[in-house]
Amino acid sequence: MTVKEIKKGIYSVGAIDWDRRLFDELIPLPDGTSYNAYLIQGKSKTALIDTVDPTKESELVNNLKELGIKQIDYIIPNHAEQDHSGVIPKILELYPMAKVVTNPKCKEFLKDLLLIPDDKFQVVNDKDTLSVGERTLEFIIAPWVHWPETMFTYLKEDKILFPCDLFGSHFATSDLYVHNEAKVYESAKRYYAEIMMPFRTNIQKHIEKLKNYQIDMIASSHGPIYNNPEFILNAYRDWISDNVKNEVVLPYVSMHGSTKKMVDYFIDTLIKRNITVKPFNLTRTDIGELAIALVDTATVILATPTVLVGPHPSAVYATYLLNALRPKLKFISVIGSYGWGGKMLEQIKGMLTNIKAEILEPVIIKGHPKENDYKALDKLAEEIFNKHKGLKIT
Ligand code: FEO
Repeated sequence: MTVKEIKKGIYSVGAIDWDRRLFDELIPLPDGTSYNAYLIQGKSKTALIDTVDPTKESELVNNLKELGIKQIDYIIPNHAEQDHSGVIPKILELYPMAKVVTNPKCKEFLKDLLLIPDDKFQVVNDKDTLSVGERTLEFIIAPWVHWPETMFTYLKEDKILFPCDLFGSHFATSDLYVHNEAKVYESAKRYYAEIMMPFRTNIQKHIEKLKNYQIDMIASSHGPIYNNPEFILNAYRDWISDNVKNEVVLPYVSMHGSTKKMVDYFIDTLIKRNITVKPFNLTRTDIGELAIALVDTATVILATPTVLVGPHPSAVYATYLLNALRPKLKFISVIGSYGWGGKMLEQIKGMLTNIKAEILEPVIIKGHPKENDYKALDKLAEEIFNKHKGLKIT
């Protein structure tokens, strides 16, 4: 990415990763990503907020060269994860006078992860400020978005918030600012679902705290800058709220077609009740799409056959993710088929330790579905309808 000027003396100097398709060897990135870093040139000091992924080291270094930066006084990691901190050692090598300014917890992480020596750090705490001349940086400690050491940096005079991962989107674009809000909304929701959703209650507190700050721009560490901050703040307020939608997310897998017959019937019976159904075939689904659907749904019904007494391994994976992502769903159940017995239901329940949703009566049948089994699916659909009605979301 070439250098882009945000305001006089404030530059975006990060890198776009057009080709990356997987993060943490887990999360699909259909639209690539970016690692945003920002340079603040004050009259007396120069600060670099975050760096980039180590694979993009040369791009950051070249951007600093292009700007003719002879001195960096402060490197400010808002987060220790390597896609933002990974090039700090190189920057310290090029600018040996620089201090790494961060909170005590982030300092310890960086010492462990990147072997940065203790004497390179300048520790800051909540509400501490740092002057770079005519500009002032304020630090806002904001743990658990999505690591325990995270913080935000607020540029007071320009009213720019640098919240690292929070509000970010895995979206490679040449636009400096959000241009296509619908597209960025989807990318940001995917990002929230995959990364931030387990920390919903922490984020609620941080967004409450941000009410004390006038924010004209949000410059996250992934994706384009929000020059209309209310767009992403409103989206987050919705996602982190306790509100759910009249939806059933239906992750499913079927081996010989019996569970699939149940799924097909169940989809139709839910549609007849005007409930939005989002089925995901677990053998081919993008788990990011599944995660997005989990953000708002009131109900999840997992559909799986029995394999060696337990759920199908694809259903185990989906259950594990569901438990780890901690969506705010209210109701959950299981449907599926078995051949001669098993403990599929018990095993799924045992994996859902983080999910507080009410468990509705499951429909676990022997072999191919029969008339009574379809009636049981109708009954489950009716129960979901009544439960959603009770929430006033139908
Ligand atoms: Fe983009 Fe948590 O790193």
